[in-house]
Amino acid sequence: MNNNPPPEHPLLRGERVLLRRWRAGDREPFAAINADPVAMRHFPAPLSTADSDALADRIQSHFDQHGFGPWALDIPGVAEFAGFVGLLRVSFEAHFTPAVEIGWRLAPALWGQGYAGEAAACALRYGFLALGLPEIVSFTVPANQRSLAVMQRLGMHYDIREDFLHPRLPPEHPLRLHRLYRIGREEWLERQAPR
Ligand SMILES: CC(C)(COP(=O)(O)OP(=O)(O)OC[C@H]1O[C@@H](n2cnc3c(N)ncnc32)[C@H](O)[C@@H]1OP(=O)(O)O)[C@@H](O)C(=O)NCCC(=O)NCCS
Repeated sequence: MNNNPPPEHPLLRGERVLLRRWRAGDREPFAAINADPVAMRHFPAPLSTADSDALADRIQSHFDQHGFGPWALDIPGVAEFAGFVGLLRVSFEAHFTPAVEIGWRLAPALWGQGYAGEAAACALRYGFLALGLPEIVSFTVPANQRSLAVMQRLGMHYDIREDFLHPRLPPEHPLRLHRLYRIGREEWLERQAPR
């Protein structure tokens, strides 16, 4: 983990939030989120501290390899580490890959205040304007209404014909079916134009 991370890009700042590179001290609050059954309700299981640290290592490698990733979410005056929001290359094969995904995981105490949405809007903006991505996708299980609502508020769109079975989960796993949302760069730019 990087103790001297580079300064944040101006596009990664919102009114209340800041997306920044991870620090060593983020691992402890990250493990607490990953151990919380509420935060992990739509995942196969909560994570042990060792598995949470291994995930933090994979996030670090993603930044090292691609220069972007799931950033640490800082909400100044509220929480130095509220969870993550960011962009990552989809690491499995599916009908929509290769693709860059937007994803989020916040401490449940901070839900319902618009922080995830505000941070996700910054990550999308960075993806389209700084990285020049042509499209960004997102996916989750149909029961994860909070996550689906974030995708919808960002202007991402859904087509039932793109539902897919997550290849990392075994056949018959109850969480296998996923909904895919997409937004293209042109479409996103159009939404930013004053009406
Ligand atoms: C998915 C997740 C990030 C959504 O968090 P969230 O707080 O519901 O999402 P937002 O930041 O967009 O907040 C929206 C809510 O804040 C409210 N809100 C309050 N103040 C607001 C403000 N200033 N601006 C915008 N919304 C505001 C909205 O009305 C909305 O309320 P509602 O939940 O009653 O409809 C969160 O549930 C989570 O971390 N889940 C666990 C991890 C997970 O499942 N990740 C996805 C896996 S694919």
